[in-house]
Amino acid sequence: MAAKSPPQIVVVEDAPALAQAAARRLIERVSGKDHAAVALTGGSSPQRLYRLLAEEPWRSKVPWDRVHWFVGDDRFVPENDPLSNMGAARRLFLDRVGAPPRNIHPIATDTNYPEGAARLYEDDLKAFYGADRLDPTRPLFDLVLMGLGDDGHTASLFPNSPALEETHRWVLGIGRAGMAPFVPRVTLTFPALASTREMLFLVDGADKRAILSRVLSGEDLPARRAHADGDLVWLVDRAAAPEG
Ligand code: 6PG
Repeated sequence: MAAKSPPQIVVVEDAPALAQAAARRLIERVSGKDHAAVALTGGSSPQRLYRLLAEEPWRSKVPWDRVHWFVGDDRFVPENDPLSNMGAARRLFLDRVGAPPRNIHPIATDTNYPEGAARLYEDDLKAFYGADRLDPTRPLFDLVLMGLGDDGHTASLFPNSPALEETHRWVLGIGRAGMAPFVPRVTLTFPALASTREMLFLVDGADKRAILSRVLSGEDLPARRAHADGDLVWLVDRAAAPEG
């Protein structure tokens, strides 16, 4: 693994261009590997990308049999709930392209409580990885998609949450979300999210400009604490990009 390079900021014209740039990066990261792993993010930012992946010319460029799909976090709701991140990914592309069910790894949000789901997901990740300890030279993921909340959260790691300080667990239950939707969550921790060849933040729209400026200027917000063993890339459109 190359030495950790500083975060890159890539500015593209608009949301459609951002989705296409993200699709190109995803395809690059999952191609040529016997089995690749992508951690999906939730919310609205990735939805244009997810739709693209189900359509040509992108669909036939993804080696669907060899890519495993995880989520970086999910809301603790049934998968058929509109709030479900994995449910949205299935609706927007995974079900549309016929991704092999064995390659789709949802968080078990039908368990009794978030922490139980977190422990099950941590077991799933460790079984997939083949070890209980993450090796920075052998990342768990090839690509981790991340979003940016208006309060500076990412995944379901919210400001002032003790989850921000976790250094051992790979997945935690979050009883109280710091922002809507105010449902319990299950989230990967920073060490697990960091175990990736590329961490790609998707940030578009003028309403993200203020929070993105605060993160990029170094304010201690959860998204600023995100790090990657590989490349960390902020893919932003012109409307969200800080001025100047
Ligand atoms: C979630 C996401 C969360 C999201 C941000 C941005 O489960 O909600 O993982 O971290 O990326 O809240 O959401 P939008 O893309 O909808 O602005």
